[in-house]
Amino acid sequence: MKGTVAVTVAALFLVAFLGYYSETSRYTEVVGTGVSEGVIDNSTNANVHEVVTKHLHLNLTLDFDEKVAKGTATLTMEALVEGLDQIDLDARYLEIMEIKLQDGQTLDYKFDEPNPNIGPKLSIAVPKTIQKNEVFNLTIGYSTTNKTLSLNWLEPEQTAGNTLPYVFTHCEAIDCRTLAPLQDTPSVKSTYSALIRSPKDIKVYMSAQNLEDWTEGDSRVTSFEMNVPIPSYLIALVAGDLEYRKLGRNTGVITEPIFMEKCVNELSELQDSLDVAESFLTKYEWGVYNIVILPPSFPFGGMENPLLTFASPAIIVGDKSQVNVATHEVAHSWTGNLVTNRNWENFWLNEGFTKWSERAIIRKQRGEEFYLVSAALGNSSLYGDLELYGDDSTFTSLHPNYEGANPYDTFSRVPYEKGFLFLTHIQNVIGNDNFEMFLIIYLDKYRMTSITYTDFIDTFLEFIESYFSDQERKNILSKIDFHTWIFGTGPPPVQLNFTTSNLEISRKLADDYLLGKGTPENHDVFFDYFSLLKCIFLQRLIDRAEDATIPILEQIDIDYQLTNTIDPEQKYLWFQLCIMAGYDKVIPSVDEFLGQYGRQKYLLPLYRALNGYDHDLAVEFFNKHKGMYHPVAVVNVGRILNPDSY
Ligand SMILES: *[C@@H]1O[C@H](CO)[C@@H](O)[C@H](O)[C@H]1NC(C)=O
Ligand SMILES: *[C@@H]1O[C@H](CO)[C@@H](O)[C@H](O)[C@H]1NC(C)=O
Ligand SMILES: *[C@@H]1O[C@H](CO)[C@@H](O)[C@H](O)[C@H]1NC(C)=O
Ligand SMILES: *[C@@H]1O[C@H](CO)[C@@H](O)[C@H](O)[C@H]1NC(C)=O
Ligand SMILES: *[C@@H]1O[C@H](CO)[C@@H](O)[C@H](O)[C@H]1NC(C)=O
Ligand SMILES: *[C@@H]1O[C@H](CO)[C@@H](O)[C@H](O)[C@H]1NC(C)=O
Ligand SMILES: [Zn+2]
Repeated sequence: MKGTVAVTVAALFLVAFLGYYSETSRYTEVVGTGVSEGVIDNSTNANVHEVVTKHLHLNLTLDFDEKVAKGTATLTMEALVEGLDQIDLDARYLEIMEIKLQDGQTLDYKFDEPNPNIGPKLSIAVPKTIQKNEVFNLTIGYSTTNKTLSLNWLEPEQTAGNTLPYVFTHCEAIDCRTLAPLQDTPSVKSTYSALIRSPKDIKVYMSAQNLEDWTEGDSRVTSFEMNVPIPSYLIALVAGDLEYRKLGRNTGVITEPIFMEKCVNELSELQDSLDVAESFLTKYEWGVYNIVILPPSFPFGGMENPLLTFASPAIIVGDKSQVNVATHEVAHSWTGNLVTNRNWENFWLNEGFTKWSERAIIRKQRGEEFYLVSAALGNSSLYGDLELYGDDSTFTSLHPNYEGANPYDTFSRVPYEKGFLFLTHIQNVIGNDNFEMFLIIYLDKYRMTSITYTDFIDTFLEFIESYFSDQERKNILSKIDFHTWIFGTGPPPVQLNFTTSNLEISRKLADDYLLGKGTPENHDVFFDYFSLLKCIFLQRLIDRAEDATIPILEQIDIDYQLTNTIDPEQKYLWFQLCIMAGYDKVIPSVDEFLGQYGRQKYLLPLYRALNGYDHDLAVEFFNKHKGMYHPVAVVNVGRILNPDSY
């Protein structure tokens, strides 16, 4: 089916370029936007062609002693076919107790051979009495196990407050199936509700509206409801010694009480980011925006769970230098959460669009220079990943061919930064005002649905047809090579330009240090740089690491005190450089840093560099710190150090 689509699309490109395409040959008519047609998602075991989830209800107890969540998942489903006789779900590392239909009838089920990449299929036999379009409830009694990848259970010592245990989930891309049995695919969106039981002193939040909570004996029960249909990967829960504080009109922060003041100060501009986003995108549809600042083991910068963005404590630096991570998650409220990739091959529709919006927000908030430097740094990180994969690798394309792999294993800067460059190129071709107008049309058209690149292109073609003359339209299409942008591997087909004078000075400063003639005369300029410009300096040194001798690094460290900087973004680049150059004075600080944050953005390049420098030392540090890391980070670092055992 995928092949057919690609061929048809290629043919349409040709027609589009010749300017002949007609009403009847639009992409949506080829692929459709419903879940019942076309290639849906190769990373699910669910038979979404035959039956879809309309609502999910979780009734779970969080057992902090056993470190499991157990209870029931009730799926309210609609049959899309006559004579439905089987429901296939995703369920991984779960213990299933019992499956019942709403009339109390117990159903037989079996697991097939587990697929090592996407987990096993849970097949449930249903009586053929269910009619097409009938809506029915299926209730599954289950428990998570200690193999789950979606739940990170923390001991009190692993939190800032040291008093109570803590747990948080992470489901993207395909780990919601380790939290509950369901149709774990972004092609299906459903509402959800939950009743969560926790010990009385532990507060629970979910990516949903918090309805009420009450105590029953030693337990606290909290109820939730999410009325906007969402994909499974956005289901999220956090529980611990948590407190909520309002930040602005409809924004707030949730974190441990001991960490609250720092977070409130750092996030003082969050409301403004949301307001700016709303000023040029569509209406904010989720009501409130709350951000949780998690314990250090959180393996990502942020995760855009609706009403409950998760963020690493690494973004709370003390100088507001990393709050653009929060801006990114704000932008996901539209691209990703409202308009969602239908499968993970189209991940750039989530991340490329969000990178674009994130930078559009900071451009409006902080100006052109900040925007350009952020884009330039993003471009450097893209080229780093292109090099890691090799220019021929399918994972350097905006539409990778997974061949059955776990999509999570292939996530990189490519969907973010190449996607950003693609959209920025389109923006340059049609002009900023037109691009923003297009974006609003796109968001309005696809809100609450899941789409693929063909839907995006379809809408773009419609847009230029409505707003431009034939001649302009031909001109626009001649400048945008959709096919190479989306399917081509390696560097993007068009080189953009994000140069600023400060950026060039920052790079030149690095080059001057690398001459090995001591401290450059203008070295003071560095002190006035915002964090991203300092990172440009460091990135330049990394790009030319073969010229960085130990005396040069020593001089830089004396001048700028980088080993002791509080900014983790500078720190991880600096340490990477020092390890690559064999400047071993920093090793004890690297050791400390690796135990401070479990964010993979820092761990993976540092362990990669350390492994190249001294494998045994890398293993020693990993064994020392892995108790703090998230199960996903343990697997990914483990793969770097010992590819065979992970
Ligand atoms: C939820 O589960 C508890 C057991 O943990 C049970 O007592 C209760 O009746 C269930 N509630 C609903 C609404 O299913
Ligand atoms: C199906 O489940 C939903 C949500 O849990 C519930 O509101 C509804 O009453 C159930 N319907 C039946 C027929 O049991
Ligand atoms: C996980 O649970 C299984 C079965 O309950 C048990 O045998 C195993 O030792 C546990 N593993 C860990 C790491 O706790
Ligand atoms: C779909 O997944 C299966 C295994 O899960 C794999 O064999 C197949 O190559 C995949 N197809 C595509 C088009 O990715
Ligand atoms: C992106 O980085 C590459 C590699 O360093 C460079 O060749 C290219 O000019 C950069 N492009 C932009 C737009 O900064
Ligand atoms: C990039 O833009 C800068 C500033 O606008 C300009 O000075 C420079 O010549 C441009 N570089 C290229 C390669 O176009
Ligand atoms: Zn994102």
